[in-house]
Amino acid sequence: GGQVLIDTFGRVATDLRVSLTDRCNLRCTYCMPEEGLQWLAKPDLLTDDEIVRLIRIAVTQLGIEEVRFTGGEPLLRPGIVGIVERVAALEPRPKMSLTTNGIGLKRTATALKAAGLDRVNVSLDTLRPDVFKTLTRRDRHQDVLDGMAAARDAGLTPVKVNAVLMPGLNDDEAPDLLAWAMENDYELRFIEQMPLDAQHGWKRDGMITAGDILESLRTRFTLTEEGQEERGSAPAERWIVDGGRHTVGVIASVTRPFCRACDRTRLTADGQVRTCLFATEETDLRAALRAEDSSDEEVARLWKLAMWGKKAGSGLDDPTFLQPARPMSAIGG
Ligand code: GTP
Ligand code: 5AD
Ligand code: SF4
Repeated sequence: GGQVLIDTFGRVATDLRVSLTDRCNLRCTYCMPEEGLQWLAKPDLLTDDEIVRLIRIAVTQLGIEEVRFTGGEPLLRPGIVGIVERVAALEPRPKMSLTTNGIGLKRTATALKAAGLDRVNVSLDTLRPDVFKTLTRRDRHQDVLDGMAAARDAGLTPVKVNAVLMPGLNDDEAPDLLAWAMENDYELRFIEQMPLDAQHGWKRDGMITAGDILESLRTRFTLTEEGQEERGSAPAERWIVDGGRHTVGVIASVTRPFCRACDRTRLTADGQVRTCLFATEETDLRAALRAEDSSDEEVARLWKLAMWGKKAGSGLDDPTFLQPARPMSAIGG
């Protein structure tokens, strides 16, 4: 006990993001090509037992307080409810959340809640079924809406909604999305598009910025900025809408980076620690788990060493910036 995941800038990681699979049942154009990607092979994936073991080490020995499950699409992992249940039984019990495209929620929300999941974040970029189909290359708009409602009704709240705006596709929808989110009691956040797409097609000039989004929202709403204390280490900057009880957030990774307060460490579905979304190096914990003389202490030591090497920031503004080899879908966002 008493050990934490601290880096050379004094930041302590208390938030663990665990990718359960690199697969997805959508093909969002800002993320993946139509044909999908070369998925990880089954033997390369961590088993449910290995995932629970890593989370147990993180929670009992390394000071992790909050666990978020991500993908690809995490609800495609058959064992997810069992994993949540086993993590909920850990002492101390971490907070647990899930980031999903929402399609699988109608089927799983009640079981996930019963297993101990606290809340979900669901991705939805548009209110228009035809635009949804163009953006995701799949005709599942209604399934996502149903999934969000199921999550809210199951008490997986607050349900947060993540939206990415793409020029010429849905960049006129910000005010409509906000009005709809408030009506449905969802907490909406807009995410700036990041250079993490598998196709390496991201261009700074081609992205909608937080500034653009706020300007568009202010044509219909009055926004009052929330204080810094409330924000803490959260990626989202939040505004109070029309002086009421609803907020809207922007996650401005590109134009207003928040790396100085970063409290995150990540595990990929094949058991690699990533110190940052944009890290170019990884640390192989799967090998340490599968070694003949494997010990929790050695795994913890490697994890701490990895985090000690965490860079100051994403490096997005460096002239030498290179996109990481692993795309967003295999990191988990
Ligand atoms: P909560 O607000 O606590 O619910 O979590 P969150 O916003 O961190 O989670 P979510 O998985 O919904 O992430 C929303 C967006 O923020 C995704 O696009 C993430 O990639 C992005 N994001 C999350 N953490 C980081 C981070 O450390 N750095 C950057 N640049 N983006 C992040
Ligand atoms: N830039 C920003 N956000 C992205 N997401 C996926 N790819 C990107 C990208 N290149 C979003 C998804 C989801 C969240 C986890 O990350 O839409 O809401
Ligand atoms: Fe943390 Fe990297 Fe995200 Fe910055 S870009 S907040 S350092 S994970």
